[in-house]
Amino acid sequence: MRVCVIGTGYVGLVTGVCLAHIGHEVICVDNNEEKVKLMQAGQSPIYEPGLSDLMKSSAESGRLQFTSDLAKGVEHGEILFIAVGTPPLPTGESDTRYVEAVARGIGANLNGGYKVIVNKSTVPIGSGDWVRMIVLDGIAERQKTLVTAGGGYSELEQIVETNFDVISNPEFLREGSAVYDTFNPDRIVLGGNSDKGIAMMQELYQPIVNREFAEEKSLPPVPVVVTDLSSAEMIKYAANSFLATKISFINEVANICDRVGADVTQVAKGIGLDSRIGSKFLQAGIGWGGSCFPKDVSALIHTADDYGYEAELLKSAVNVNRRQRLITLEKLQQELKILKGKTIGLLGLTFKPDTDDMRDAPALDLIEQLNRLGAKVKAYDPIVSQSGLSHGLSGVIIETDAEMLADGCDALVLVTDWQEFLKLDYGKMVQRMTHPVIIDGRNFLDRQAVQDAGFRYVGIGR
Ligand code: UDX
Ligand code: UDX
Repeated sequence: MRVCVIGTGYVGLVTGVCLAHIGHEVICVDNNEEKVKLMQAGQSPIYEPGLSDLMKSSAESGRLQFTSDLAKGVEHGEILFIAVGTPPLPTGESDTRYVEAVARGIGANLNGGYKVIVNKSTVPIGSGDWVRMIVLDGIAERQKTLVTAGGGYSELEQIVETNFDVISNPEFLREGSAVYDTFNPDRIVLGGNSDKGIAMMQELYQPIVNREFAEEKSLPPVPVVVTDLSSAEMIKYAANSFLATKISFINEVANICDRVGADVTQVAKGIGLDSRIGSKFLQAGIGWGGSCFPKDVSALIHTADDYGYEAELLKSAVNVNRRQRLITLEKLQQELKILKGKTIGLLGLTFKPDTDDMRDAPALDLIEQLNRLGAKVKAYDPIVSQSGLSHGLSGVIIETDAEMLADGCDALVLVTDWQEFLKLDYGKMVQRMTHPVIIDGRNFLDRQAVQDAGFRYVGIGR
């Protein structure tokens, strides 16, 4: 099928590349010319495991193109994905201005025939109908321009024949495993009231539903949830809010464990084996961050508020998370007392491993507080280099390896659970430190091995 994906961020680019890989003809549109040039040259602007290889092979097959020309993309696609960012405003609401600009742009470029417009971006509940309205506005503006110009009758006739439906198709991709998640989804959600539009989306995803590109091909087909627009939009917010709440729950349990002398990793194992609870997303630590959980939980709280309901549980999940981000700071103070004049080394900066994304990373809050308290902050992250300094990291010295990081430190804090941190030579690192203390902000390291190397080990809730 012919597909156009507008917005090549973490979600749009992965979606476009994966759809091309399974056989569709895809044009990805982005209004950032530099990014488009980079992608045309075969390079991925983001770090996502497996993405570059698929990008290369799909481009070579001729099924994947990149452009900044929205009109070209709209003309090409029978299915048009809107995948631009919806960052949070200071009030907690989603900033939908990019979605609005794209929807208007689609309307202004529709030129006859039937199209499915897909909301892939996480948009506030009710946005399906709103996007429809904006697209219609875009069409009307173009008609007006043509009439005022006193010509373009054939174009006007074509526009009259334009027909489209809006479908909500939320993404559930985790950064760092977004390609895997695309080919091995737990479910596909399609919201809308047009049978034709839903049928086209089902055809689009058929190879994925049949697990043709999955790791486990023998599993039954991927469940497809077909529902109305608002329910599909709500599924996305409810899923992310539930997962964020689950993490806040285990973090709260960890804090109680700390006080009573229990080990939260054992508690998580013990409760996770109950199939009603499940073992995933029970890793206690310094809290959740990233581009989705903080934004989506806030947006759901805000929507509830707009409709006269106070989402107390969700507000508590946010508050627990806010406090949790500074839990390693409390532990540093317990270990080192005064932090002024001390040097703290951070292992990891990104909000989770296998991504270069620093959006709402817990590290940023920790750095801000350490700087405020007069500590010198150094960091080593496998992916964030000097170029990452633009992401609010001006108060940090970025080191190029973990041993350099350890040099002269009074304590280390493991912030991100990158696999490579399991294999570091902690014995050598101890030699270079002023005080060999390590706060494991993710309960990730082999405690015994790190202690044997000579570190004093402090975990979260254990
Ligand atoms: C996505 C979103 O779809 C969001 O709703 C979801 O919750 C998380 O994932 P993300 O992929 O992280 O966002 O977005 P981002 O990395 O900000 O990329 C958006 C892209 O759209 C950028 O490349 C930007 O240049 C492009 N863009 C933005 C356009 O092409 N046109 C615009 O008008 C605005
Ligand atoms: C999330 C959702 O999982 C995905 O389905 C979606 O639609 C986009 O948002 P992502 O933000 O990439 O994905 O990361 P995720 O793996 O969910 O982790 C989010 C945050 O929670 C990270 O900061 C991570 O470190 C933290 N986390 C996760 C924990 O603290 N403990 C856990 O047990 C799991």
